[in-house]
Formats: sequence, C-alpha cells, structure tokens
Amino acid sequence: MVDLGSLIWHASMSMLTTAAPVCEPAGTIQPSMFNPAGAPAATILGITWLLFVITGAIAIVVLSLIAYAAIRCRRKDGDDLEPAQVYGSNPIELAWTVIPLLIVFLLFMISARGIFDLERTTPPEGSLEVSVTGHRWWWEFDYGDLGIVTAGELHVPIDDGKPADLFLTLHSADVAHSFWVPQLGGKMDVIPDRINHLWLQANAPATYVGQCAEYCGTQHAKMLIRVVVEPRADFEAWVANQQKDAVAADAAVKEGHDLFLRTSCINCHTVRGTVANGSFAPDLTHIMSRDTIGSGAAPNNPKTLRQWVFDPQNIKPGCDMPSMKLSRHEVDLVCAYLETLK
Ligand code: CUA
Repeated sequence: MVDLGSLIWHASMSMLTTAAPVCEPAGTIQPSMFNPAGAPAATILGITWLLFVITGAIAIVVLSLIAYAAIRCRRKDGDDLEPAQVYGSNPIELAWTVIPLLIVFLLFMISARGIFDLERTTPPEGSLEVSVTGHRWWWEFDYGDLGIVTAGELHVPIDDGKPADLFLTLHSADVAHSFWVPQLGGKMDVIPDRINHLWLQANAPATYVGQCAEYCGTQHAKMLIRVVVEPRADFEAWVANQQKDAVAADAAVKEGHDLFLRTSCINCHTVRGTVANGSFAPDLTHIMSRDTIGSGAAPNNPKTLRQWVFDPQNIKPGCDMPSMKLSRHEVDLVCAYLETLK
C-alpha cells in the first residue's frame, strides 16, 4: 500500500542516500506509521489521528471565523476609521478559558494513557528479549541466553493466531541513536550510559523495515533495521544455524580463509570457530544469512560483497571499515570464503 507515510519515507531516503536502494524481497513491508502491524503502533496511530481531528477542527473553526470577520466586517465607505471599542465580557472570557482548558486536559489524559500503555520496563509475557547496541552506523543484536549475536537484522518467532512480542533493551556504544520500526511500535532513544526499553509487536509474519531516527553522523541514513517476523519453526531453524560455529573452510576456499585471517579484518570482526574475535564490528559468523551488508547500505549479493570488501568507503563513506588495499584477486579469494559463512 502506498500512503503518505511511505511516500515521505521514500522521498527522504532518496534524498539522503546516494547508492541504489536495496532491492527488497517479497514480503518486505516498507516503513509507514500509517500502516500499523501491532498494538503499540496502532495505539500511536490512534492518538495521532485523534489529535489531528481535534486540532484540525479547531483550526477550521478559527480560520472560518477569521475569514468571516475579514469579509463581513470590512470597513465600508462612510464608516468611522475606528470600529466600536468593547471592553470586558465575562461569558466570552470564561468560554475561551474553560473550553481550551477542557480540550488540553482531554488531550493530556488520552496521551498519558497511551504512554502508560506503551512504556514498559518489564517484558510482556512470552516476548522475545533482545539486547540492542547502537553503533555508528549499525545495530548489534544480542539474544542473551540463546547465545546469538548478530547485526542489522532481528529475527522474531510468531505463532498462529497470536501476535509476536519483542522486548528490547537498548544502549549505545558511542553517540545518541534512536530505534524506530514504524509498523511495530514507537521510537526509542538509544543513549550512551543509559538503558532504555522498547516494546514492539507484530500481528503477521513479514520483514519490517526501520531506521535510526536520531541524527548520529555521516551515515545516519544508512543505519537501517530489518525485523524478520517468521513462523516459529523457521525461527528455530534460524536459531539452530546461528548457534553453530562458522563452517570449516574446505580446500576450495582455503586460500581466502587464510588471507582473511592474516588481515586486520580479525581485529574488528568475529568469525566464531576461528581466531577472528574482534568486537568493534558486525559478527560475520553467519554473514550470508543476512539480506543486506553495511546495516542496509547494500543488498547482500556476490557483487556488492566484493565492492564492499574492496572499498567500503565507496558504499558507506565515513564508516569505520577501511579499504584493506586488497587486489581484485585477493578480494575474490576473501569473498569466496565469506560466501561459505551461511
Ligand atoms: Cu544512528 Cu542515526
């Protein structure tokens, strides 16, 4: 569905990004707060529409009265230069004090109830709990007891006929970010030295796209989020795969594997089961299970992977990953190895 929200989103994304947008697989829902997929987002949209209707009605009444006065009460030939001066009217003054007070009080009560519904410091029953770390410019997702650490993409199980609840604990490794997946809930600041929580909910399986919503530097626009809500069996298969160490390099990719482990890639990236155990950058143990590279900067396919390894600064200028000055042949070798990390 194309609506105002997704139009604004696409317009701002195309202004902010220079590379071609990620070609989305079927079942991906583009972000729009006007198309909620769960209770928290629906609550926010309900309040938004209510405020819009009430403030819109006030605007219509006020603007109509101004237009009426301007047309009907124009000075005509022969009128005095100064109109009749009227001082004080208790009924009018009472009306324009009490009515706005009642309206503001009503809006306050509705907003407060919405905030209390959405703000949670403890997870709803049966929710998946994930710890989120905002980095310039990517998201790290730690599944705690499940022993999974991944980047850019969250997987969430959903059971038939029940909404999927997701409870996030958010912190930042550097500057202030904001976590926002419009279909699934509100926006939450991700701030250094502070822990925030966010409750998200999805009613149906799909991939929901979101975005860092607090300007955090050069690549703020390419700090994207993907939430893959999938049937429980698919989720369990995903978990089982993510929990495994990286596959051992076979003879065909041995050269690329050795080259990868000799470069300084391993100071920042982890590939579980090898000596690569850096923690500054996304875990690559199962990099090929992800739809995108660079937290949504490019689709994950053999061509973009090679472009990325050859010169990440070309795809995501300013990101922490430098060009390793590998030759084209060396890039091919390393990528052939990375492509086995499914
Ligand atoms: Cu992170 Cu904007």
